[in-house]
Amino acid sequence: MLILAIETSCDDTACSVLKITGNKKPKFKILSNVVSSQIKIHKPYGGVVPTLAAREHIKNLPVVFRRTLREAKVKIEKIDYIAVTQGPGLIIALWAGVNFARDIAQKYGKKIIPTNHIAGHIFSNFIENPAEMNPVRSRAHAKSASPKDRGVATSNGVKFPMLNIVVSGGHTELILMKKMGSYEILGSTRDDAAGEAFDKFAKMLGLGYPGGPIVSKLARKGDPTLYPLPRPMIASKDYDFSFSGLKTAALYFFKKHPWVAEKKFLLHFCASFEQAIVDVIVSKTIRAAKEYKVKTVALSGGVSANQKLRHQLETAVKKELPKTRFLAPDRKFTTDNATMIAVAAYFNRKKATSWKNLDADANLELI
Ligand code: KG4
Ligand code: ZN
Repeated sequence: MLILAIETSCDDTACSVLKITGNKKPKFKILSNVVSSQIKIHKPYGGVVPTLAAREHIKNLPVVFRRTLREAKVKIEKIDYIAVTQGPGLIIALWAGVNFARDIAQKYGKKIIPTNHIAGHIFSNFIENPAEMNPVRSRAHAKSASPKDRGVATSNGVKFPMLNIVVSGGHTELILMKKMGSYEILGSTRDDAAGEAFDKFAKMLGLGYPGGPIVSKLARKGDPTLYPLPRPMIASKDYDFSFSGLKTAALYFFKKHPWVAEKKFLLHFCASFEQAIVDVIVSKTIRAAKEYKVKTVALSGGVSANQKLRHQLETAVKKELPKTRFLAPDRKFTTDNATMIAVAAYFNRKKATSWKNLDADANLELI
């Protein structure tokens, strides 16, 4: 089976062709995986500008789409399903991908698998052996991928119950999967998402965009215990998160002590901020994993690229739940890409429908 997936929920225009063989133990072969990043476009604004994102998606989609098929060496006629991110995300960005998918599906008589972006992040952990597969992360017109950029993987033999901690620029959610296709939201952020908090913290200090990678790079050599920052809701009995208070506390600290933005203090300030976020996520995830006696704890989403979070969550799982398996996607599949959408679509192919029934939904729920 061949699935062509399209992802445009935020600021990455992405397409992928996934070949699936075998039924009970599916094998995935990523025939192509192209991501056209818009970081340069949004950088001057310190965040994603939805209208610009949509304009770029509309401009880039035909180029990314053609290149994806060319690299996969597959003709569109041979594709079995078109998968597209239906939501959640920025509505005008989503519409760009959805309209593009509708046009192709209508023109070539294909069925569409509408796919949830959060499910995509979750299913990035269903790809095994990902080191072989480097997605092409570039502007749409960049040069072609080498053959080693594509590779074979098997579905990851994930055991349920599976607890997912999805942390990205738009989401911080603890999602329990008791079995394939069943999603129970145990908790989510009440205000800013973890990635958003990193981005806003970086913007406040004039460090650039996106903030997460910049802050975590600076934090690497910093002392995370130096500046006292709060751990919002760490002791609350529920599984919700709140990072807006942390951002405000950091802002007040910065206003009171402007020297923290100086080079020799900045790395400690970044490390202290990062540690506050990591502490809350690790503590709540471990508590939920124990309560629901899960067999798998899986970290995903853009913030799962954070080395400290990956390491400290993995260490905590090993120590506190030695029989539980810890998963995190290969770094290249942490931020938005279309391969994760193709994998999620494969496991949701029962939802395949006509292009006529497809629309975008900014607040699409996981069901
Ligand atoms: O999943 P993603 O690509 O887009 C959304 O669905 O939101 O996540 C992007 C987010 C941004 O907020 C970015 O700052 C954050 O992921 N991020 C990181 C790191 N790399 C990306 N946050 C912390 N540490 C990182 N290394
Ligand atoms: Zn995402």
